[in-house]
Amino acid sequence: MDMLTTLASSTLLGQSAPTDDMRAAFLADVTIGLAYPQKAVPPRWFYDHQGSELFEEITRLPEYYPTRTEIGILKAHGADIAALIGPGRAVIEFGAGSAVKTPLLLDRIAPAAYVPVDISGDFLRESCEVLSERYDTFPVIPVVADFTDPVELPLAVAQEAKLGFFPGSTIGNLTPSEAVELLRAMRETLGDGAKLLIGMDLIKDRAVLEAAYDDAMGITAQFNLNLAERINRELGGTIPVEALRHRARWNALDARVEMHLEATRDIAFEVGGVRFFMSAGETIHTENSHKYDSASAATLLRAGGWEQQTEYTDADEQFLVVLAQAA
Ligand code: AVI
Repeated sequence: MDMLTTLASSTLLGQSAPTDDMRAAFLADVTIGLAYPQKAVPPRWFYDHQGSELFEEITRLPEYYPTRTEIGILKAHGADIAALIGPGRAVIEFGAGSAVKTPLLLDRIAPAAYVPVDISGDFLRESCEVLSERYDTFPVIPVVADFTDPVELPLAVAQEAKLGFFPGSTIGNLTPSEAVELLRAMRETLGDGAKLLIGMDLIKDRAVLEAAYDDAMGITAQFNLNLAERINRELGGTIPVEALRHRARWNALDARVEMHLEATRDIAFEVGGVRFFMSAGETIHTENSHKYDSASAATLLRAGGWEQQTEYTDADEQFLVVLAQAA
């Protein structure tokens, strides 16, 4: 890390999302979400340190095709993508960088800086250590922030043209209207002349989709259950986690895989001084993972202020990587 990077990191890490605010937001999301007739907790709360580690494990599972397929696309079309992006852009990654995926981009495009933005400070710090050791020709400037709102970027990249990088099909975890808002927030964060390289998962066979979200080793189940454990750990909740089980199902009407935590018996528990009840079979809806086709992907991007420039897919058409430009 150079001086600029170290200064920027120590100034920004932990500043934009103080722990007390995060806890209050978590508590509000949980107590409001559990009061709905269909109980729900937003998936953003999966990613504490444990959740982020479990997600990394998911990405290596045989059933979970999105990560390896996206990596294959980035490898196969890297030269093409780099030529369209050009050198000298500040790369703003929405989410902590992965040691595999991020270098596939950074190694090819000679960026001016790399700025990963993530809500989980611990995980961001860890992934940044790896990436800043690897690169000494440009600064690595982590920013802890909730990127669903426009993010104030470090001054060091204020003048640079930007490339947003949002791999992994994380956009799919938002409802269509939330996704449009996020794309607009990104458009505002990145400014005029920006480009966006985004991964989006494609609609496919139900069996393939459901297996990807309910793997034989039970890692996705642990990832889902960790949300209930996190509520107990961080909010002093009394959820009997052993009475919950993981469920994943394809909802064809809404083109999404849904994850739920289902009560195996009638249970009662408290969170934040509020008492909740679940009868056997009742669920907490914890995640949607929307899938797209080429047309719905382009429509979503357009609604969010981005014009599709090119799209790349794999031989089996499982996953889509789209390069878009600010409209
Ligand atoms: C982060 N996100 C894109 C993952 C997905 O595929 O929707 C989260 C995930 N949930 C279960 N497995 C993976």
